[in-house]
Amino acid sequence: MRAVLVRQPGGAEQLFLGEYPTPEPGEGELLVRVRATALNRADILQRRGLYPPPPGASPILGLEIAGVVERAGPGCGGWRAGDRVFALVPGGGYAEYVTLPAAMAMPIPDNLGFEEAAAIPEAFFTAYQTLFWIGRLQAGERVLIHAGASGVGTAAIQLARDAGADVLVTAGSEAKLAACRALGASHAFNYKEGPFARRVLEATGGRGVDLVLDFVGAPYWEQNLECLATDGRLVLIATMGGGVVERCDLRLLMAKRLQVTGTTLRSRSPEYKARLTREFVQRVLPRFAEGRLRPVIDRVFPWDRVAEAHRYMEANRNIGKIVLRVE
Ligand SMILES: NC(=O)c1ccc[n+]([C@@H]2O[C@H](COP(=O)([O-])OP(=O)(O)OC[C@H]3O[C@@H](n4cnc5c(N)ncnc54)[C@H](OP(=O)(O)O)[C@@H]3O)[C@@H](O)[C@H]2O)c1
Repeated sequence: MRAVLVRQPGGAEQLFLGEYPTPEPGEGELLVRVRATALNRADILQRRGLYPPPPGASPILGLEIAGVVERAGPGCGGWRAGDRVFALVPGGGYAEYVTLPAAMAMPIPDNLGFEEAAAIPEAFFTAYQTLFWIGRLQAGERVLIHAGASGVGTAAIQLARDAGADVLVTAGSEAKLAACRALGASHAFNYKEGPFARRVLEATGGRGVDLVLDFVGAPYWEQNLECLATDGRLVLIATMGGGVVERCDLRLLMAKRLQVTGTTLRSRSPEYKARLTREFVQRVLPRFAEGRLRPVIDRVFPWDRVAEAHRYMEANRNIGKIVLRVE
């Protein structure tokens, strides 16, 4: 089969379309003909050699796909050849074919195409899991979402609004702030125009937010604690701005009874991911079918322009997801 391969760890110029053995589905696995996949920051780290795939995962880049079932191995429940599916995969998405556990496959709603479906799993699973399973967000609460116009951010704004929460965001340009407002954010702050904590406190009458979803890390640590309300939760999803905090006043954690937690989706067990998939299919997928939720797609690149797509993400230009059409 054809697949996007990496000549040697490095820049986007190392990516090329080459030949790779087609994977064989094992017990409980589907072989899927990939029609679209989407980019994630993890792909860039993996391309650079900084994020090795977990044991047993394909060495090919790509954490999410949409396509058509080519063959169902034994023990795959009701899935049949020809079914339109989309899924989170542990790797191998940038390829003509991928194998995945049948427990991870989701039916593509009739109103979504392959490119739209491919833009959903990583962003929406991450947002759903961090908002509700880890962050325990409730209707009527306030959540601050950093990198609001990112793939995960655009998913989180929609899910939080749909659950009845008030959403505040930060982002780095006027166009990104406008996109976040259009998705339902009540307040959007440009972090390049000065500290956000004071503006968040002003916007919330001095009370602060109940939950922060953070992708930036160290540079935001003090401000995150400052603008959290009593009993607030901080969920660390990425450290794009740095991972080492120089100063940390632990007394603030005690005084406001704050909880700080972090997570990575890729390292979760297959059972955890299957449970997340089941709940997502039951509770969230119908919202896409109804048109209440939608993947935000910035651009679709044909997969022979994958290097250009990676550079586009590295330049922080995207609002929402960047999709690769697998032709
Ligand atoms: N832990 C997990 O389970 C998990 C799962 C999925 C993704 N992630 C991580 O979450 C992050 C977001 O993923 P994504 O695919 O949604 O990203 P994305 O669509 O590529 O968007 C990332 C955005 O973050 C902003 N940003 C980048 N560096 C920044 C910095 N130093 N300070 C402030 N803002 C910065 C940029 O927007 P502005 O123009 O607004 O600055 C950039 O466009 C990535 O780091 C990814 O690896 C983690």
